[in-house]
Order: sequence, then C-alpha cells, then structure tokens
Amino acid sequence: MVAAPARFSDLPDYAFPRLRKLLDAHPPGGDPVLMAIGEPTHPMPPFVADVLRESVEEFRPYPPNEGAPDLLEAIGAWLGRRYGVRLGPERLLVLNGTREGLYNAAMALCPETKGGRRPAVLIPNPFYQAYMVAALSVGAEPVFVPATAETGHLPDYGALPADLLDRAALAYVCSPANPQGAVADRAWWLRLLALAERHDFIVLADECYAEIWRDAPPDGVLAAAAEAGADPERVFAFHSLSKRSNLAGLRSGFVAGGEKGIAAMRRLRAYAGAPLPLPLQRVAARAWADEDHVDASRALYRQKYAIADEELGGLPGYEPPAAGFFLWLRTGDGEAAALRLWREAGVRVLPGAYLGRDDGRGNPGADRVRVALVAPCDEVRRGLRLIRERL
Ligand SMILES: Cc1ncc(COP(=O)(O)O)c(C=O)c1O
Repeated sequence: MVAAPARFSDLPDYAFPRLRKLLDAHPPGGDPVLMAIGEPTHPMPPFVADVLRESVEEFRPYPPNEGAPDLLEAIGAWLGRRYGVRLGPERLLVLNGTREGLYNAAMALCPETKGGRRPAVLIPNPFYQAYMVAALSVGAEPVFVPATAETGHLPDYGALPADLLDRAALAYVCSPANPQGAVADRAWWLRLLALAERHDFIVLADECYAEIWRDAPPDGVLAAAAEAGADPERVFAFHSLSKRSNLAGLRSGFVAGGEKGIAAMRRLRAYAGAPLPLPLQRVAARAWADEDHVDASRALYRQKYAIADEELGGLPGYEPPAAGFFLWLRTGDGEAAALRLWREAGVRVLPGAYLGRDDGRGNPGADRVRVALVAPCDEVRRGLRLIRERL
C-alpha cells in the first residue's frame, strides 16, 4: 500500500466539519440563527436568469481557458473604475472562484528553493485555510504571522527576522480581512511592497471582500503598486463575485497581476484547470459591469453594521469591523462560547480557533468566535441580541 503524503498529515479537519462535530450532538436551545458560514444570502443580481437563458447554447463548446474576451474586458473596466488602474487581458486570468486561484498561484509561482533553502510562505494568523494548503502542496514552509488586535488585525511581516524574509517566496494578505474585518490602507500596502522588493517575495492579496464596506471603499494592492511603481510581477490581487454579487454558487473570480506570472498560471490551468462554462462567464461579465446590485447589497450590510453597533456597542469584546461581513468577537474560550450559544440559544457561530493556528505562542483565535452577518436583518438582530444576553 502506498503511504499517504506526509505533508498533509498534520492538516486539521476543515472548519465546518469540526463545527458539526462540536455542535450537532446537541439540540439547539432555540429557533436556530445561522451565523457560522460566510455564505451571502442577499438577492442575486436580477439579470442572472436572462443572461443564462440567452447563452444556454454555449454550454456545448469547451470554454476558453483564459476567460472569454467580454469577461476580461468587463473585469478590466471594473478595475479601472474601482482602483484607477488599467490592465489589459494579458494581466488577467479568470478563476472558478478565488479559492482555487489562491491555491494554484502557489503552484505556478512558488519556486522549489529560494537562495538554496526551503522557501517560506507568509500567512496571516488567523487566515483563510486555502493559503496553508497551498504552501504545503508546493513543499514550502507555511509561516503563521499573528494578525491580532496588537498588530491592527493585519500581519506585521516587517517585524519578521530578515533571514526569514529572505527565505519568503510568497506572502498572502487578506484585506478586508476574514475574519477580523480590518482593512490595509495605502501606507500599509506601500510598506509591504517595499518589504517585498527588499526581500524579493511575491504578494498574493486576497481582496474578495473589497466591495463590502462601512464608510469608505478599501484601498487595493493594485492601486498602491501603481503609486509605488512596484514590479508588477510581485503583485497579484484576487477578486470574486461570491461576496460582491451574492453569487457564491457561480464560482467566479479573477486574479490580476504581472504578465509573466499570469502567463505561468494560465499555462498550468491549460493542463490541469477547469475553465468556467461560457454561460457562467457571460453572467460574470454582466455582474462586473453592474454596480446597482452591489450598491443595494452594501446598503443591506450597512444596516447590519448599524444593528451590530446597537446590539453589541459598548461590550469590551466587540470591535466594529471596517469591512466584510464578519464580527470577530472576543468571548473567552471560543469553543466553549460557541457550544453555549448553540445549546442555550440556538445561535450557531464559529469558534475562532478553527480559523487560526497555534504558532507556538498559542492560537490567536482561541478566545474569539466569528459571527457572520449574512442572514436577513431581523435574524441578525435576534442572533446578536441572544449573543449579548448569553455572553
Ligand atoms: C478570505 C477568503 N478568501 C477567499 C474565499 C473564496 O471565495 P470564492 O472561492 O468563493 O471566490 C473566501 C470565501 O469564503 C474567503 O473568505
């Protein structure tokens, strides 16, 4: 019998099976309020069915690997409107959602060695779990860097030892951050880009929550890179329709970056990727070209931010998020808190530890729970009120 690969032996179960194991042996202590999974439930854009109907014949051919020209054009135009950057199709690659792109970027861009040593991949802690599996898959060392209240909920890569930074090949960043809701501003991005230049690593910026914000649109790495005149081959930004357009089931996103790096990813996809079916690419093109449905969805999230402020404002464990749709509540033991909320009130939240990793200094999510504000407003209010009463 061939042995299973050791590089994944240390992998914990994914967060949601772990949550089921924790909670499902217990009946909910009330009418359930689901606040664990970050799955948008706001209305889909109104044009989805029409576009699908018009393009249904296009399920017949194989879809283009690099993305249909009209989709690439719509994405390029959106990047221009949103960030003031102009990128042609050679700098864009269409993805089946950002998760696979965040994973495959490491496949395409991480070298076997750096300076003769095993490369490091820098990962914020807590983090979206695909980053870690990507690093392990390419045989790199995942290095977990605290993104806690002390560091403004973003990783302070500049504080790492120079020797480790020299070994870094890739650095993942999530802004707006899941789960913390923190946003990297222009100065933060510029510092990171200078660090990447100094130590020769690539920045992989996961910006899939960029369109869900409270007061001002979050800055993006591409705009900062343009200001800094950064080497485009160091900078890759990932965007998705899952959150922006409430189309998680469409599986559509893109990566924008340097022409050579994009070509490397495209080449790998030609061998091993699964391009998005053409009718779905047509829907995606319409979605990137439309802002009305995005504004409407953002207005609903703004109501939920206000509800969170009303229900939880003043509690020491509550920090209003700048963007995204999660609360990262400090509760003391997060697993115990999640279990209590479920058993006593039927409120389902995710223990923060399931999103973090013990880096030797403890798991930075251990004393938190993540609360997703995806349900309708009255449900969100009911859930938050129960959380306030119980915790
Ligand atoms: C931080 C982060 N990155 C990436 C993704 C993947 O999104 P998708 O593959 O739907 O674009 C998610 C989804 O929950 C996420 O929270």
